[in-house]
Amino acid sequence: MDDLKEKYLPRIADALDEAALEDIRLAAVGKKGEVALKMRELGQMDPTERQIKGPILNALKNEILSAIAAKKAGLADTALDARLRSEWLDVTLPTRTRRRGTIHPLSQVTEEVTAIFAEMGFSVAEGPRIETDWYNFDALNIPSHHPARAEMDTFYLNRAASDDRPPHVLRTHTSPVQIRSMESTGAPTRIICPGGVYRADYDQTHTPMFHQVEGLAIDKDISMANLKWVLEEFVKSYFEVDDVDLRFRASHFPFTEPSAEVDIRCSWENGNLKVGEGDDWLEILGSGMVHPKVLQAGGINPEEWQGFAFGMGIDRIAMLKYGIPDLRAFFDSDLRWLRHYGFEALDVPTLHSGLSR
Ligand code: DAH
Repeated sequence: MDDLKEKYLPRIADALDEAALEDIRLAAVGKKGEVALKMRELGQMDPTERQIKGPILNALKNEILSAIAAKKAGLADTALDARLRSEWLDVTLPTRTRRRGTIHPLSQVTEEVTAIFAEMGFSVAEGPRIETDWYNFDALNIPSHHPARAEMDTFYLNRAASDDRPPHVLRTHTSPVQIRSMESTGAPTRIICPGGVYRADYDQTHTPMFHQVEGLAIDKDISMANLKWVLEEFVKSYFEVDDVDLRFRASHFPFTEPSAEVDIRCSWENGNLKVGEGDDWLEILGSGMVHPKVLQAGGINPEEWQGFAFGMGIDRIAMLKYGIPDLRAFFDSDLRWLRHYGFEALDVPTLHSGLSR
């Protein structure tokens, strides 16, 4: 029995992991282990011998078991120590300044415009960027022979000669959303429709994709006076000035009668635009009273209802407010540009907390 003790105790002490300990346990005190075999021999002994050897064998078994348990605990401590040494973390280190994303000026301006018009009771309507030519042109009183179609540098979707679906275009303006919205909600209504539009044009102030916001208000007694007030309120809020001078210039659009283009008074000082003062005028939008044919196309009775509409370039007013000289840079995804002109993600523009900071 001393042999067994001398055989197993050092092995237990030297075991490197739990698996090795388990092997030792099976070989020593398992069902078919050496101690068990010795215990089976007790049966053949005479009672006096058995009374002496029995307790000694039991004591050996317990000694081996407790040596294994102690070693197991020791191994776990060592493993924890090693883990603590390798997985430490200095929580007192300063945080790394992360490169945060910014809100694109166009998203910012769209939010600003939406916040201002929401205050005046306008909700946001949207329409598809791929339109039928009926919504983009015909319904807006631009029949196929009309010169405005040619002027718009329209992108037409390619179609097989055998394809008899109606022709589709990339919408050239947000005005078709007027028709869709009249169809779905009828009159009275007050909506703005921001979104992307497309025209085949490219230079410092034109890109093939750009953004507009359309406005539409229909009711029983809406007039040009309401249009003028709404636009004045908008321009004051948007450019964050107390006073603006707007100039309504008679113009022509097929979808409005009468039509007006609107200029704001401004000054340019060393390339910096100031809105509300000076001797220059800057065109910012087209507008007018919705043409009876357009109301009809949208399913609204022009004998009963009337309204105003306007269309404005979002990119254009973003460039003006934030002094961005080249439109093309809006769509280059240049990170330096985005960091310079972008806005903090959590500064959501509202009329109460301020539009821009
Ligand atoms: N759709 C016109 C354009 O893209 C802009 C416009 C002018 C919209 C007058 C209107 C409007 O609603 O009344 O040039």
